[in-house]
Amino acid sequence: MISPIDGTLQNIMQYESNMINKKLEWEKTKTEDGFGRVVIDNFLDEETCMKLYEECMNAPKGGWTVFTRANSRMEEFNDLISLPTAHRVTYDIMHSGEFLYQLENMTGIVGLLPDPHLVGAGYSILRNGTILAPHYDFNWNDRLRLHRKLTSLLYITPNWKSDWGGHNVVWDGNPELNPNAKIIESTAPLFNRFVINENIPKGPVHSVSEVTCPDDVYGRCAIRFFYYVSTSEYDKENPPHRSTYSSNEYSHHKLHEEEEWNGHFVGNGGEDYGYTPKIVN
Ligand SMILES: [Fe+2]
Repeated sequence: MISPIDGTLQNIMQYESNMINKKLEWEKTKTEDGFGRVVIDNFLDEETCMKLYEECMNAPKGGWTVFTRANSRMEEFNDLISLPTAHRVTYDIMHSGEFLYQLENMTGIVGLLPDPHLVGAGYSILRNGTILAPHYDFNWNDRLRLHRKLTSLLYITPNWKSDWGGHNVVWDGNPELNPNAKIIESTAPLFNRFVINENIPKGPVHSVSEVTCPDDVYGRCAIRFFYYVSTSEYDKENPPHRSTYSSNEYSHHKLHEEEEWNGHFVGNGGEDYGYTPKIVN
């Protein structure tokens, strides 16, 4: 097991450098197709990604469910409590404020939230000979009561070959309903490749091509994370206010004042966003 602090910092530094230049890719796909998406290779350090794969293979049998629908079949597992690497990657990295900040910067989407319950997320395996038929994803998480906005997958099967199938195929329509539907993009599930796709109303339609790996390969393994946005407004009967005391006397400042800081910024709901830097002319 990698050390909790060093490993996490190493991973954060790696994904930050990976995501800095992905903003243009996101904007280009969004402009051309109406939904943004990016592919990031070498997302985590290889050792961590390999540990994710080993934990996937050895995850307790009782925690797996199998999803079947319209010729599709996928095994799913989201109870990460006994899987130290998956748990730490999920809650220390993928659900962290630092990562959400990077996602928001890259996508321009404000107010992204993770799902700590991993509804429909976590590990997934597509075995040899299986597919996912064309579909669009569920849009509402009833546990969080939020709309789904981003779907991300990290592929974790080592040495995956592109001709073993299992590609994530994005369409401009449902090919089962419209024979003229065309493939926009097909992405191979290569080891340590991270893909982020935007969910839009009733789209995008996507499928997974048939997995045709050798019999001694475990399958197309991935770990998935979904991100949500709230469209809710505050309750008009209970509008935002600051913490309220019997006295309105108020002081809030840095314990150790620094010259380069100007003052603190308080939001409309009274929330304190901390200090703003002093503007230097
Ligand atoms: Fe999907």
